[in-house]
Amino acid sequence: MKIFVYPGSFDPVTNGHLDIINRAARLCDQLIVGVLVNISKKTMFSVDERVELIKKAACGIGNVQVESFSGLLVDWVRIKNADAIIKGLRAVQDFEYELQMADLNKILDPQVETLFMMSSANYSCISSSAVKEIAGMGGSIKEFVPESIINEIMLKCNSK
Ligand code: PNS
Repeated sequence: MKIFVYPGSFDPVTNGHLDIINRAARLCDQLIVGVLVNISKKTMFSVDERVELIKKAACGIGNVQVESFSGLLVDWVRIKNADAIIKGLRAVQDFEYELQMADLNKILDPQVETLFMMSSANYSCISSSAVKEIAGMGGSIKEFVPESIINEIMLKCNSK
């Protein structure tokens, strides 16, 4: 049984994340999406909202499970008995930060492997912060997030 974890803030989940979820789920038996309970970072969506949005967006994929986690990623990976961490890379802008995290995690737990998946070309410009900004200014986010969660995101981004 091959288990991968896909961790992130997902504030909110985008089509770019969903692309990685779809493709990574095909490479393992169980993909566990881990939503970080951010303590230092202020998020627009609560952890429960972020989990629910991913569940809604990924409901058609059988071997995907969505959970929240807090604390060190390597500890959670061990608790889940996972074989690898999956991270998506959009372009050079992600590389330095992701390499640093993978190196740190390797030092914290040498058993932990991080696998990088390049995002599909048409999703490489999408980010959660861009989605929030566009939605908050009344722009259309239909190209960037799944149809089923557009309304919730638009409501939240325009509620303050
Ligand atoms: O979507 P993000 O914000 O880029 O995800 C970052 C995440 C959640 C993968 C990262 O912040 C993380 O692993 N946090 C858990 C705390 C931890 O393990 N820190 C030490 C390694 S950098």
